[in-house]
Amino acid sequence: MNKFYITTSIPYVNAPGHIGHALEFIQADVVARYRRRQGKDVFFLTGTDEHGTKIAKAAQDAGVSPKEFTDKISGKFFELTKALGVSNDDFIRTTDSERHWPAVKAVWEKLQANGDLSKAIYEGLYCSGCEAFITEKELVDGECSIHKKEPERVQEENWFFQLSKYQDRLREKIEADELRIVPESRKNEILSLINQGLQDVSFSRPKEKLQWGIPVPGDDSSVIYVWADALVNYISALGYPDGESFKKYWPADVHIVGKDILRFHATIWPAILLSLGIDLPRTIFVHGFITVDGQKMSKSLGNVIDPFSLIEKYGADAVRYFFLRELPPTEDGDFSYEKFEARYNGDLAAGLGNLVARVLTMARNHNPEFALPEGIADDALRQAEQETQDAREAALESFMFSDALEAIWTFIHFCDRYIEEKRPWEDSEHQEKALASLLGAVMAVTELIRPFLPETSEQIARQLQERKKNILFPRLDRA
Ligand code: MSP
Repeated sequence: MNKFYITTSIPYVNAPGHIGHALEFIQADVVARYRRRQGKDVFFLTGTDEHGTKIAKAAQDAGVSPKEFTDKISGKFFELTKALGVSNDDFIRTTDSERHWPAVKAVWEKLQANGDLSKAIYEGLYCSGCEAFITEKELVDGECSIHKKEPERVQEENWFFQLSKYQDRLREKIEADELRIVPESRKNEILSLINQGLQDVSFSRPKEKLQWGIPVPGDDSSVIYVWADALVNYISALGYPDGESFKKYWPADVHIVGKDILRFHATIWPAILLSLGIDLPRTIFVHGFITVDGQKMSKSLGNVIDPFSLIEKYGADAVRYFFLRELPPTEDGDFSYEKFEARYNGDLAAGLGNLVARVLTMARNHNPEFALPEGIADDALRQAEQETQDAREAALESFMFSDALEAIWTFIHFCDRYIEEKRPWEDSEHQEKALASLLGAVMAVTELIRPFLPETSEQIARQLQERKKNILFPRLDRA
C-alpha cells in the first residue's frame, strides 16, 4: 500500500495554542513531508477539539457565545499551522455538524447495536481539568496529578462503554506490536495499565452538566462526553463510514500524541475500533512535554510561550529547528531563550547559513556563471553524504528527529573541514573539483534538510539556481 495517513491530536480550544502544540504539529509535519518525498500518497490531518464544559466556561468568562469563542480560537490554531509551515491536508473541527457529527452518531449507534453501551448510575471523582473521571489510585495527595486540583465527587446517570470487554484483545495487539507504541517505555506503561484491569468508561454526561456537545442519539437527556466525540475525528474527517477517503486512507499509519493522552489513544480508541470492526492504527508515537526554564508551562505561572511571537522574531524554520533538535523526541525537554539563541547562532547562523554563503561566494569568485554539478565528485565527501542519508533515514523511521538533524549537522561540519583542508579559494589544480564537490554537498544538504526546514531548503535551492547569495540566518546579537 502506498498510502500514508498521519494525524496529530486535536487541541482543546479553551485557550490559544502554545509551544507544546507547535511541537506536535512540527513533528507530524516532518513525518508527512518525509513520506511524501518517498512517493507515498500522504494524508495529514489535524484540527481542533471544541466541546466540553471547560470550553463552554472559557467562552462564558470571555463574555461570548461558545460558537463565537470556538470559531476564534480554532481559527488561531489554523493560523498557527500556516505560520509554522505545516503541510496538513485537512483540518477537522468537532463542532462541524456536517462532517464530524454524522460520524460520531454512526459510531455511537454501532457501539450500541453491539451491546457495548449501557446506562448506569455512576459515582466517582471527576477532574474538570482532565475532563475525565479519575480513580482513587491515580490521586496524589488527594489531587489530580496533572492539574494539581482536588476532583469533585459526582453521582450521575451516564452511558458506559464496555472497555473491560476488550482488555485481552488490546493487550495482545499491543504486545505483538500490531498496534505499535513508540517509545517502548510508553508501550510498557500501557501494558501495565491494562494488566491492572481496565474499567468501563463514561461516554456521556447528563445534559444539565454538559450542554456544549453532541446529543446522544435517541436520548435527549444526555450529551456525548468529550473523548467519545474527539477520538472519532480521525475517521470523521475521512468520511466514515462510507467516504472514499476512509476506504483509501484508514487505518492511520501514525497518531502523534503527547504522553498525557496516550491512555485514551491506546485503550479507548482501539477498543472503539474493535467494536466497530475496523482496523487499528498501526503506530502511536508519543512525545514528551516541554517545560519553560525548567518549569511546567502554565497560565498561572505566566510562562506560556506564544509560538507566534517566536516565529515573528526568529522565523518559522528556526522555531522548527529548535524543537526538533533540542528536545529529545520522546522525553520531556526544556525551552529557554538562551538555549534557543545558542542553537540559532551556533547551528543555523554559523553552521548551515555560513556554509551556504561560503560555498556560493567561493564558487562565484571563481566563476560567476558556475555550473551546478550532478552528484559529489570527491570520494570522501560523497561517502560522508551517503552515510548522512542513511543515518537520517534510520532516525526518521523511528521518529528520532534530533538524531537525524545531528547527523546532518555532522555533515555540515565535515564540509567546513573540507574547505579548510582544500582551501578552494586559492588557485590550484584541485580547485575546480573541490568547488564542484562543495556545490554538490550544498545541494545534498538542501535535500537532507527539506522535511525539517522546508522554507530554508527552498531558499538555498533558489540561491544555487540564481547564483546569488542571501544571508539565511542573520546572527542575533546578544542583548
Ligand atoms: N483535546 C485533547 C486531544 C484530543 S485527541 C482526539 C487534548 N488537547 S490539549 O490541547 O490538551 O493537548 C493537545 C496536545 O498537546 C496533546 O498531545 C498534549 O500532550 C500536547 N501538549 C500539551 N501541553 C504540552 C506541553 N507542555 N508540551 C508538549 N506537548 C504538550 O488533550
